[in-house]
Amino acid sequence: MEIIILPTAEEASEVAARLVARQVRENPRSVVGLATGSTPCRLYQSLARKHTSEGLDFSGVTSFNLDEYVGLAPEHPASYHRFMEENLFCHVNIPRERIHIPDGLAGDIPAHCAAYEQAILEAGGIDLQILGLGSDGHLGFNEPGSSLASRTRIKTLTERTRSDNARFFTAGEQVPHHVITMGLGTIMESRMCLLLAFGKGKADAVAATVEGPVTANVPGSLLQFHPRTKVLLDAEAASALARTDYYQWVYQNKPVWQSDL
Ligand code: F6R
Repeated sequence: MEIIILPTAEEASEVAARLVARQVRENPRSVVGLATGSTPCRLYQSLARKHTSEGLDFSGVTSFNLDEYVGLAPEHPASYHRFMEENLFCHVNIPRERIHIPDGLAGDIPAHCAAYEQAILEAGGIDLQILGLGSDGHLGFNEPGSSLASRTRIKTLTERTRSDNARFFTAGEQVPHHVITMGLGTIMESRMCLLLAFGKGKADAVAATVEGPVTANVPGSLLQFHPRTKVLLDAEAASALARTDYYQWVYQNKPVWQSDL
């Protein structure tokens, strides 16, 4: 894991956007894995700006989203279909037929999940997966206790996650209990992962993910086994780490040949 700590979420998101842009420029037919939630919003804004002002071209890109709520129609304001449409897809030129998001209304969920896995395989696997981190350490919607080898499937959210995500739903509306999520095994097959976490509320989950033991109790910690993961943090999210000085020294003193930003 490479730990990159920047003072603000804006700066960390800009670095993430440069990494995604580099991936797309180097391989215009890249397959990218996408996350929703508050964390990637600035990254998506920056990608939209790069598309408009620098001509960053997504016309060859294929995308796979991590997850969706079971029971929400694509047009529901809190659905991840709607989130992606508003935050990224309507601002860039990923062809519609190459956008994939789990279908929260799928009739046969196991068959839908198997087909989602198959589609990732047929696309050649995910080149770069963008990830956020739950305050309980979840990745995608793989809650604590998820199998470390899991594949795309239905999961039940913890009450903590339901309450964290209640802000996306209108008052009185129930946050769904069930979701479809890529599994931890699916995520681990991505060739590169970019894990973003911002704010004090993520500090403990970040410390457990980066410096704790690898355990199903903290799904993010599995990324310690991933060969190419960059963790992009603001100062608050990094505040419970023990080796901050070391991570910052490493980042600021990268040899030129190793610098990728
Ligand atoms: C969303 C997802 C989740 C979020 C996590 C953090 O697609 O997979 O793992 O990344 O719940 O959410 P925010 O960014 O809202 O704090």
